[in-house]
Amino acid sequence: MKGVLLAGGTGSRLRPVTRVTNKHLLPVYNKPMIYYPLQTLIDCGIKDIMIVSGREHAGHFLSLLGSGKEFGVRLVYEIQDEAGGIAQALGLAEDFADGGRVAVILGDNVFEDNFRADVDEFEGGSAGAKIFLKEVPDPERFGVAELKGDRVVGIEEKPKAPKTSYAVTGLYLYDNRVFDVIKSLKPSSRGELEITDVNNAYINKRGMAFAFVKGFWSDAGTFESLFRASSLVRAKERKF
Ligand code: DAU
Repeated sequence: MKGVLLAGGTGSRLRPVTRVTNKHLLPVYNKPMIYYPLQTLIDCGIKDIMIVSGREHAGHFLSLLGSGKEFGVRLVYEIQDEAGGIAQALGLAEDFADGGRVAVILGDNVFEDNFRADVDEFEGGSAGAKIFLKEVPDPERFGVAELKGDRVVGIEEKPKAPKTSYAVTGLYLYDNRVFDVIKSLKPSSRGELEITDVNNAYINKRGMAFAFVKGFWSDAGTFESLFRASSLVRAKERKF
């Protein structure tokens, strides 16, 4: 299975820090942010990874990560000209996916868990897609999943009144139909092709599996969450 790491977007919530550099190059404790989602894919046993970035700092990603040799993987790079949403960025990986399944991770997501077993199971299984949920105190900042028994029945993107506290984290497994789903999407009210619309399309076809994230998880796209992600990584590294 191939991996796609999405590191486009504007980083507007971290201005002025992101005025002259890219959000995914900022430190999370002792490493550049992008190292964490990259390592999560690598720990899944994935060897071929596409990094999608915006055009402004694309050269910096290349300088930092190169061919991927240092990490024991092959990296290729794609440019998302404008920040048209997570689903739009993923759509750029269609040729790279080459008809196969993909593991997709957001460049500002920091996970403690190892998802190798999930990826192996998904590769050989019948589910069309799989998402990973985490109970959080501030679900209104995320895609929020509604559950009925052992099924996800819907996801709302940043609802004002969340129905549950289960955030949809930024790791997604998809079969190759995801690229047709993306082509059928319309931009949301914020002008983006939303990953939540992709996931709801799978839910409506009853092809969506899910699991809970056990260890810590944080995004790092706001000052608060960036600080939190750094603290979590520091605590783990120093075993406080
Ligand atoms: O962190 C998980 C959350 O990520 C999910 O719960 C939400 O459902 C999902 O929409 C997303 O929410 P955010 O509003 O936090 O996404 P953000 O715009 O911060 O983008 C997250 C990453 O996605 C970003 O670090 C890089 C990538 N991205 C984003 C956009 C908008 C792209 O590659 N291209 C883009 O155009």
